[in-house]
Parts: sequence; structure tokens; C-alpha cells
Amino acid sequence: MEDKERYLKCFRLFLERSTEHKSMKDFIHGNLPDTLARIGKGKTHLNVMGVGSGAGEIDLEILSELHLKRPAVTVDYQVVEPNDKQIQLFQESVSQKPNLDYIKFNWNKMTAAEFEKHWKKNYTKKMDFIHMIQVLYYMKDFAATVSFYQSLLDQDGKLFIILLTGESGWSKLKKNFKTQISTGDSQGMTSSDLKTYLDSMGLSYHSYEQPSQFDITECFTEGDPRGELLLDFVTQVLDFSHTAPAELKAAVLEYLRHPDCSQEIEGRVLFNSNMDMLVVDAPK
Ligand SMILES: C[S@@+](CC[C@H](N)C(=O)[O-])C[C@H]1O[C@@H](n2cnc3c(N)ncnc32)[C@H](O)[C@@H]1O
Repeated sequence: MEDKERYLKCFRLFLERSTEHKSMKDFIHGNLPDTLARIGKGKTHLNVMGVGSGAGEIDLEILSELHLKRPAVTVDYQVVEPNDKQIQLFQESVSQKPNLDYIKFNWNKMTAAEFEKHWKKNYTKKMDFIHMIQVLYYMKDFAATVSFYQSLLDQDGKLFIILLTGESGWSKLKKNFKTQISTGDSQGMTSSDLKTYLDSMGLSYHSYEQPSQFDITECFTEGDPRGELLLDFVTQVLDFSHTAPAELKAAVLEYLRHPDCSQEIEGRVLFNSNMDMLVVDAPK
């Protein structure tokens, strides 16, 4: 979606209506601590990076878990995020949170591809932990992006990636309306595509599926402004309700309720937003 302000509104509403961040936090505090305990073994200073951090809610969860596991460690943190409004929100959260003195934040208002160029010109250091959370969809070539960022890892480093699964409602919707809905700057890839790539390259990783749901009930109330924003987010099309041909809109709404995509529970339509959490090892 080109309109950054509307995208942000849609995304904030999506977060309110979905269990997305709760599912991520469950994983970060349940499974990720063992990984965080092992990165950069013996080091007192760690290099960490967030690619497509958004407003940084999840980054701050990861950092707080890292601090619990490694209280004596200081952190150099690279934030790579092209949306200045998101960066601003992230900076506000950092300024309101006490006890973050152990972290030095570096703000990079750029895309992953721009940051790659910037990095190649300016840095040679190795990273201990890099995350790409719900962002690989926006890369022109996700395989090249993963390959570059994985190459930055130090020997005990990890690349943490979160993506929707190939069985999620989003993936089914994209497949079903492949030719009718242009996905804008989102490439519509899923964790299945990433796993196929990682396997083909012989790269080692662990993958954990985490269930998540997105309450899209409001999409079915004609003229509901919040429903329209949610529909934009589901389709990744700006103002889908008013720009899509009536037949396409009706077909999309019908399919969104289909068991391929959603479950209906107590009058709510819950869209399948299951995610895979992948922890990729450093190159051998
Ligand atoms: C779905 S949001 C996820 C934000 C955050 N990681 C989270 O899970 O809450 C995707 C983020 O990726 C950013 N983004 C979009 N294209 C990007 C690119 N080419 N490189 C880096 N980040 C990008 C967007 O601005 C947005 O903040």
C-alpha cells in the first residue's frame, strides 16, 4: 500500500483485532530465551538488528528477554525501518521506557535493500542476532535478502524470521485471487517458500508454528469505516471497498468467511493468521 499513513492506521487496527503480537510475545518469552542465552557466547557486548521493526513493540520484548538472560551485556542496536512515522513511535517508546541505558540505538530510516548498500560501504562488524518479523513479504527478492543478512552473522549468531504459514487465510486468499488482486509491494510469499529456499541451500534452522487469529467481523458490515480499513489490510489494496469492482468485492468477502480462511465462533469471523517462527543458524 503506497499511502504510508493509511497503512499505519490499518496496521494499528489489525494489531488491536488480532492475537498477532500476543502470539509473538508468547514465543519470545517461552521459546526464544534459550536461543538468546547462546548467541555471542562469552561476549560482553552484542550487535543486534531489527529489520522492518515498525513501532518496535516486538523489538523491545526481545531486548527485555535478552537483558533477563544476559544482564551484564551491553547492546548495539540497528533499527532498519523505512516508515518515519513508525520510527517516531519506536523512539517515543524508547524515551518512555526506563533502564534501557545498556542499549545504544542506531536509527536507519531506510529499506532493507538501502541498508544493505549502506552497510557494505560503512561496516565490517558481525552481528549476533538479527530479526525480520513479518517483513520479508516486502522484499523484491526475499532469498537474496535472507542470504545477505544471514551472511552478517557471527558464528553463534541467529537470524529470527516470522512469516505467515502457507496454510494461513492470507496465503489462501492470495492464491485464490492471484490474478484479480494486485498485492502492491507485498510479494505474498509465506514460510513455506522460505523453508523451500533454506532447504535448497542446505541452511540449518528450526521452525515453530504459532497459532494466531484476526477478528475480521467488521469487514462484513457495509460502510463500517473500521471494516474498510481491515479489508485494506487483508487484501493489501488501498481503499479496496471503494476501488474494487462490486463482483470482486463480493467474491472476496464470501471467500473470507470460507473455512479455507476463517472459523466462525460465537458470531465472530476469525481469520487464520498462523505464523511460523524460524530461527536460522549462521553460515557454516
Ligand atoms: C507488518 S509491519 C511489521 C512491523 C513489526 N516487525 C511487527 O511485527 O510489529 C512491516 C514493517 O516493515 C516495514 N517495511 C516495509 N518494506 C520494507 C523494506 N523494504 N525494508 C525494511 N522494512 C520494510 C514497514 O514500514 C512496516 O513497519
